[in-house]
This record gives sequence, structure tokens and C-alpha cells, in this order.
Amino acid sequence: MRIHHSSVAAAALVVRGLVWAAPTEKRGLLDPLFEVSTLGGITFKINQVPNQKFYGARKGRGAMAMAKAYSKYGAAIPDDLLSYIQQLLEELGLLEQPGAGNDTSASPQGEVAATPQMFDSEYLCPVQVGTPPQTLNLDFDTGSSDLWVFSTETPQSQIGGQTVYNIPQSSTARLLTGESWGISYGDGSSSGGNVYLDTVSIGGIIVENQAVESATNVSLAFTQRPDTDGLVGLAFSTLNTVKPNQQRTFFDNAMRDLAAPLFTANLRASEPGNYNFGFIDTTEFTGQITYVPVNTSQGFWQFTSQGYKIGDSNVMNAQTHQAIADTGTTLMLVPEAIAASYYAAIPGAVNAVQTAGGYVFPCSAAATLPSYTAVIGDYLAVIPGEFINFAPVDGNTFADATTCFGGIQAVPAGFPFAIYGDVFLKSQFVVFHGGQTQLGLAPKPL
Ligand SMILES: *[C@@H]1O[C@H](CO)[C@@H](O)[C@H](O)[C@H]1NC(C)=O
Ligand SMILES: *[C@@H]1O[C@H](CO)[C@@H](O)[C@H](O)[C@H]1NC(C)=O
Ligand SMILES: *[C@@H]1O[C@H](CO)[C@@H](O)[C@H](O)[C@H]1NC(C)=O
Repeated sequence: MRIHHSSVAAAALVVRGLVWAAPTEKRGLLDPLFEVSTLGGITFKINQVPNQKFYGARKGRGAMAMAKAYSKYGAAIPDDLLSYIQQLLEELGLLEQPGAGNDTSASPQGEVAATPQMFDSEYLCPVQVGTPPQTLNLDFDTGSSDLWVFSTETPQSQIGGQTVYNIPQSSTARLLTGESWGISYGDGSSSGGNVYLDTVSIGGIIVENQAVESATNVSLAFTQRPDTDGLVGLAFSTLNTVKPNQQRTFFDNAMRDLAAPLFTANLRASEPGNYNFGFIDTTEFTGQITYVPVNTSQGFWQFTSQGYKIGDSNVMNAQTHQAIADTGTTLMLVPEAIAASYYAAIPGAVNAVQTAGGYVFPCSAAATLPSYTAVIGDYLAVIPGEFINFAPVDGNTFADATTCFGGIQAVPAGFPFAIYGDVFLKSQFVVFHGGQTQLGLAPKPL
């Protein structure tokens, strides 16, 4: 799903090294947090490693998360949001205006999206590629369908501390001659390259001849995420970008061998969550799982929400909309009317696009934020108020900020679906059921 546009080019930014990100510090690959359990060799569980660097960011996190979400789907970033980010980067000394004579129409327009990735929180999972296995930390993304990695084919100048897939050292790597891949978002950030088949193992599940997309080119957005060695796309294979022969995702390939053709996401707030493949761990949720149909026509885990409730109210507001479950997006982006209605319930909340990048509220209201309940079929998905307090706007911590950025924001106007990202997913146990093409949701201890 890419909606191309030109407005971003008008405000092309070049972002230099992000000084506070301590790019030389490299987290351990597996960390003590990582556990794997295999059941009969065909099911597994994998703990996520929260990317601490993204938690270390300060002012502007909300705006950056918004810009990231917009740019991921190629939506035009509103001019006022863009100019806020520009001002912020200027304040931080990170903005470099392209000099006269420089061509600003090419790659620089992409770099506005680079920064949001640094400001955002994301989750990484260890993945073994090749023979003998090489461990890479990859971002599991249910909103895309390419498994791509930094590699020995990536130019040194584009590597910012990532661990690379060493192709010559893998005895099972085989070039898929004539195939290439390329992902390019509406803001211009991109990656692309060659395609290999190799053995990929995640939590003990081994897929041979998995398409491993080797980056011969990544844009600054990716270079600036030193801990992220690539992505594992977990949306439907119809979104895979390999040409001329589209390739299957890891999950699609593994599905037939799994005990059950599904994976589950149990993202957690500020601590490692986990994905399970092939089984449902009944200790990870309470009550029962409600399944709803998934509409795969756009390649996403897309479902229907019939409306919402705010706080403890019994009033169900009907507002049917399409939404996708996207682990690769931080915020929950809902139709504008719903966002407006939610923040109308919070005294002092405003849509401060020009000064903060989206809906903000007085931090003094943080403790009493109403919950948001998404009505999804027969299921009521409750997001507690505290999850909707996303980040301080005018301070380094919630304690010294007076203005806070909301975890629920508006989806870009005209966008075909809402994006239920991590703010939503963290509050739920979620089953991505490939066999039944359904999404399962259940409450869990938070
Ligand atoms: C383009 O911009 C860069 C960074 O500001 C500068 O170093 C370079 O000299 C510029 N090139 C031209 C042709 O102006
Ligand atoms: C690499 O990507 C940049 C954008 O990120 C693009 O401008 C450039 O043309 C690409 N180069 C190659 C060789 O593909
Ligand atoms: C699935 O989604 C597409 C695009 O959003 C829509 O046109 C189609 O009607 C939907 N199908 C069903 C069965 O809801």
C-alpha cells in the first residue's frame, strides 16, 4: 500500500548523525531476555528485545512516531507536522539544509522519515540465517512482507553498526539470478537489492530456501538504526516486493509445518514481549479468544471495527472502519472523528499539530486518562488509559513535562484503513491465524 505524493519533497530535510543515540553501543544479540522453547521441533516462542535506543529519545517522540507511521504507508505528512519536525531538528542541531546547487528532488526527501525511526520504540528478535547460522536482530513487522537484511553486499558507507549477513560464509546461500527487490516509501526512504535463498531459523523453526533479501542499498533511515539488522515481514505474501518472481514470507513457508498455522503476538509495555509460532500459549491471556475475519485484499491483517467506547461509559459509538494490525507501527491511528471524540473527553487536550505533531493533553491528566475500547465484532478490546500516555512533549521524562503526547492519533485523511499499532497491540493477546485467515483477540494481564 503506497500512496505517492509530492508534498514532502517541498520540505526535504537532511538529517545528520543523531548524537544522543550512542551509535557505538551495540546491544548483545540475544540478551538474557531471549528464550526459545520448541515443542516437537515445530513450534516456538521468541522473546523480543525492546530497542532501548528508541526509548532514550526525548522531545518530539510523538511527532516522530506520527511521521514514521505516515511515511511507512506512503501517506503525505501534513505540512504543519513536517514543519514542526523541521523546527525540532533545528533546535537539536540536527538539521542540515541542502545547499544551493544540491539536488533536493532525489533522496533527501526520504530522510524526513529517517528520524522518526530513531525516536520510535521498536522490538527486535534474533533470527539465524545461513549455514553455519549467523544471528541477526530483526524487526518483526506484520505490516510488510519482505525479509531483508544488511549484508556483505551493503556498501560500508550505508552500514551504521548493523550486523550483516555474510553471504560468502554461508554454504547454503544461493543467488536467485535475475531477481531483485525494492521497498520505497512515499517519503523516499527505501532499501533494495539482490535475492538469495538460504536457511532461516527462528526460535528453532527452520525454513530452507527462504528468500533472504540482501540490501545493496539502504536509505539513511535504515543506516541510522544501528541495532536493526533488517526486517521480517509478516503480512501476506502478496505484498512481497521481489520481482519478477514474488517470494513467500517466512511465515507462509513455515505455516504448513507448524503444529497450527498461526503465530501470536504478545507485545508488552516497556518490557520484552514475545511471538509464538505454531501454538497458542494459554498462559498468555485470560478468558477466551474471539476470532474475526481478515480481509486480505490489500495484503494486510485487515479487519473491521464497528465502533468504540470511551472510559467506563456504556455508550457504544457506532463508527465502522477498516483497520490493520501492524506490529511495525508504534501508535494507534484511528479515523479523525474518533480521535477528536476521545480527546474531547480529556480537559485541556488539543490537536496541536503545529506545536507537537498531534493530539496532546496536560500531563496532569495522565493518571486519569479514560480507556479506549475498540469494538471488534463481538469483542471489546480495552486499551487502558495509561497506555494512551505515549510520551512527554516538553520534558525528558513524564515527571518534568507539562504536555504529553497521545498514543491514539488520527490516521491521515483519505487513508483506506486505520492502523492499530503497538499502542493497541500491547494491550491484547493477538493471534494471526494464517490457516483460517482470521485475527484472534483476547485480554491479557497487563
Ligand atoms: C551540498 O550540500 C552539502 C551539505 O550541505 C555540501 O557539503 C555540498 O558542498 C553541497 N554541494 C553543492 C554542489 O552545493
Ligand atoms: C539507493 O537509494 C537511494 C534512495 O535511498 C536512491 O536515490 C539511489 O538511486 C539508490 N541507488 C541505487 C544504486 O539503487
Ligand atoms: C475487503 O477490502 C476491500 C478493500 O478495502 C473492499 O473493497 C472489499 O469489499 C472488502 N471485502 C469484504 C468481504 O469486506
